[in-house]
Amino acid sequence: MGDRLLLAVESSCDESAVALVRGGEVVLVERVASQTAKHAPFGGVIPEVAAREHHAWVPRLLDEVMHEAQRIGVAGDIAGVAVTTGPGLVGSLLVGAGVASGWAWGRSLPLLPVNHLEGHLRAAWLRSDPHALAPTLPAIGLVVSGGHTLLVRIAADGAIERLGGTIDDAAGEAFDKIARLLGLPYPGGAALSALAATLPRGTAVAPLPIADVDGPYDFSFSGVKTAAIRRALAASGQSDRTPGRAATLTRHFAEHPLPKGAAAEIGAATEQAIVGALRAAVARALRAHPECSLIVGGGVAANVPLRTAMAEVASAERRTLVVPPATWCTDNAAMIGAAGEWLLRDRRGEFQDPSLGLDVHAQWRIGSAVPA
Ligand code: KG4
Ligand code: ZN
Repeated sequence: MGDRLLLAVESSCDESAVALVRGGEVVLVERVASQTAKHAPFGGVIPEVAAREHHAWVPRLLDEVMHEAQRIGVAGDIAGVAVTTGPGLVGSLLVGAGVASGWAWGRSLPLLPVNHLEGHLRAAWLRSDPHALAPTLPAIGLVVSGGHTLLVRIAADGAIERLGGTIDDAAGEAFDKIARLLGLPYPGGAALSALAATLPRGTAVAPLPIADVDGPYDFSFSGVKTAAIRRALAASGQSDRTPGRAATLTRHFAEHPLPKGAAAEIGAATEQAIVGALRAAVARALRAHPECSLIVGGGVAANVPLRTAMAEVASAERRTLVVPPATWCTDNAAMIGAAGEWLLRDRRGEFQDPSLGLDVHAQWRIGSAVPA
């Protein structure tokens, strides 16, 4: 059972991905096709374009993965197909679920619906190096991506309890929106972080305010965005201007770009505010759950200051920390294969008959059964 081989398919947002994962840990083959370049001119993901791209790419990647599986002699070992069925863009999810269902039916293989956010958490179990530290349960899990920011507790039996999350923008969304104002291409999180890193070491950065929220594990990032906009307007000599609509602002800053130093300072202040809020909530969660280790996943977990902050918190609280390598932080199918394996092991999920098809869900709260 430890070496069950799952074929995994991911298509919830703007990455098409297919992988073969053994025992929820070892990635035998994986392919990812990112649509970022298609959406970049619009400054965000266009759902119709995303679905069309998945339609072109998911079958192609599936062929490539199976070709490789045959070459390395594991094609006959596949025990089932794990596929993301939510949360995400409905059109995109439908393509992945449809291709996976048809493919599984054609090979008499069972299907397993997987929650994308559980995938981001279970990415921590994927091993590129057999000597790497394996996560332990119970754990506090932080998922920080372009669409989601949430904090959970995973019990020793795999049950997931949601502790809190963002009440407005996701952390990655806040990075991306502010990056766009600073003239950086979409998605701007990594570029904003790189810009912030150009500030000479030790440069004092005036902090941006972070909104208070009621829950100890909740976040609000839309206030950081507004404060960053006001600071950017002030830096371009427009302190009195009301921010107005995003498109108007983006045009204003495209016509009057900020000097690089001012943009870097705003980027650094943004990054510090977001990382600071995540750090404070994770520290609170670890203190309240002294039995828990720490795992972090999602695209924003590729952020170096966030990784450093998490390492510091874990060390201060004497906990083990596992953050996947950056390629398994951003959307991929290997993490869906890992999550699928754990769903089967802890019996929160079970294989389904592919002839029944799969429902997909734009919203799907982590840890809950698939919504009706
Ligand atoms: O998990 P992901 O690939 O897609 C979603 O499920 O949303 O996350 C993408 C997000 C984007 O907002 C992107 O800007 C952000 O992750 N991101 C980063 C970094 N690398 C990716 N944000 C900050 N710093 C980075 N280095
Ligand atoms: Zn994601």
